[in-house]
Amino acid sequence: MDIHDKPGPSEFWDGFYRERQRVWSGKPNAALVREVSMIAPGRAIDLGCGEGADAIWLAERGWTVTGVDVSAVALGRAAEHARDAGVEDRTTWLARDLAQWEPEETYDLVTASFLHSPIDIPRETILLAATRAVAPGGTLFVVGHTAFPPWGRHDHDDVHMPSADELASALGLRTGEWEIETSASEDREATGPEGQKAVLTDAVLKARRLGS
Ligand SMILES: C[S@@+](CC[C@H](N)C(=O)[O-])C[C@H]1O[C@@H](n2cnc3c(N)ncnc32)[C@H](O)[C@@H]1O
Repeated sequence: MDIHDKPGPSEFWDGFYRERQRVWSGKPNAALVREVSMIAPGRAIDLGCGEGADAIWLAERGWTVTGVDVSAVALGRAAEHARDAGVEDRTTWLARDLAQWEPEETYDLVTASFLHSPIDIPRETILLAATRAVAPGGTLFVVGHTAFPPWGRHDHDDVHMPSADELASALGLRTGEWEIETSASEDREATGPEGQKAVLTDAVLKARRLGS
């Protein structure tokens, strides 16, 4: 790589994970736990799964889960945690750049938790592809920031971080094909990678594709 080149997403995120022993808490995201606990397990895909906590939690509840992330370093840790949790046989880890790849199958549950990046990411395009990956009767779950956390470095101050309602409209979920089950703004106390504390506002969206 030329010194003037910006790192691509895999270089950036591999470097990010390599610099730290364990970045995220290892616990599943609370909004996912609350919104998905009542859904009968089937096949799921977690987009931007990081170190795998959400995917492993799903697998522990009986889901067969594919975790996708651009960082092979994060996925190596996810696979190790899955082995430790005894859910290796229900988890598959795929190293893919979601800007270049989209799910080839459909799933009963498609999740994306905090799929944000300090470098450019076509998040709305990726989430549109996520809607196409939801099987009839299946569920789309997205939780995201409504502003970068204080510890989040980023290239552009002008990146718009949509509310759940804005995202539902942008993804075309207001048509007769979908039922929006949750569209909410939620405050929570969060801890950053270096232990920093802040109150963050999350956008939580859950929608079911009608049909069976
Ligand atoms: C803020 S972390 C969230 C991780 C996890 N979902 C969680 O909630 O703890 C964002 C994740 O998205 C991944 N990511 C960023 N850009 C990506 C891309 N273009 N394709 C696939 N994954 C990407 C990163 O490697 C990172 O693991």
